[in-house]
Amino acid sequence: MKYEPTRLEIFLTRLAFFFCGRTVYQAFADRLPLEGGEQVLDFGSGMGTVAYYAAKKLPHGQLTCLDISERWLSVCRKTLRSYGNIIYLHWESPSLAKESFDVAYCHFVLHDISDSELERVIPELAGSLKNGGVLVFREPLNETEKLRIIKRLIEQNRLFPKDSRITDIPMMGNALECVYIKQ
Ligand SMILES: C[S@@+](CC[C@H](N)C(=O)[O-])C[C@H]1O[C@@H](n2cnc3c(N)ncnc32)[C@H](O)[C@@H]1O
Repeated sequence: MKYEPTRLEIFLTRLAFFFCGRTVYQAFADRLPLEGGEQVLDFGSGMGTVAYYAAKKLPHGQLTCLDISERWLSVCRKTLRSYGNIIYLHWESPSLAKESFDVAYCHFVLHDISDSELERVIPELAGSLKNGGVLVFREPLNETEKLRIIKRLIEQNRLFPKDSRITDIPMMGNALECVYIKQ
């Protein structure tokens, strides 16, 4: 479902990014399997919190920041204005190029998407990964039922679990982070 953030929401997210950028978003970006030349998808990039750190790790690669919200994408452009390796993608009716990404990640995005929309989004995400590509997500641990659906859909789409961990995020509580490989 399309949703545009309010000014207050943007302000509060900027504040959280300012105070928790390193501990929350950089920590996640640092765990992504990046060597520097990958094609990477940030699905639901928001204001570019994770992208800000992930893009630095791609001196020879490219990061696609995708969001359903035009307003978040325009804030994202501002956050990442100093980078030259970003593509911005406004995504309403999905059609990602097949087998085009080495790594795709979703950070606090999938738990907010309806079950029927997930049935459309996850196969699209899986199809956009190259063989051997990696999908990483981090979502709130208390969304038990949603996590079960997300995992089921991921595993039905040729993605195999490689790793998982629980991280404690300031003000957001525990989150589950999972890594999958496409085979
Ligand atoms: C809670 S924010 C997280 C933003 C960012 N990943 C972060 O961790 O700061 C969720 C983001 O996902 C986007 N989003 C929600 N549903 C989406 C969909 N179906 N396709 C693409 N983006 C979506 C929202 O517009 C929003 O920017």
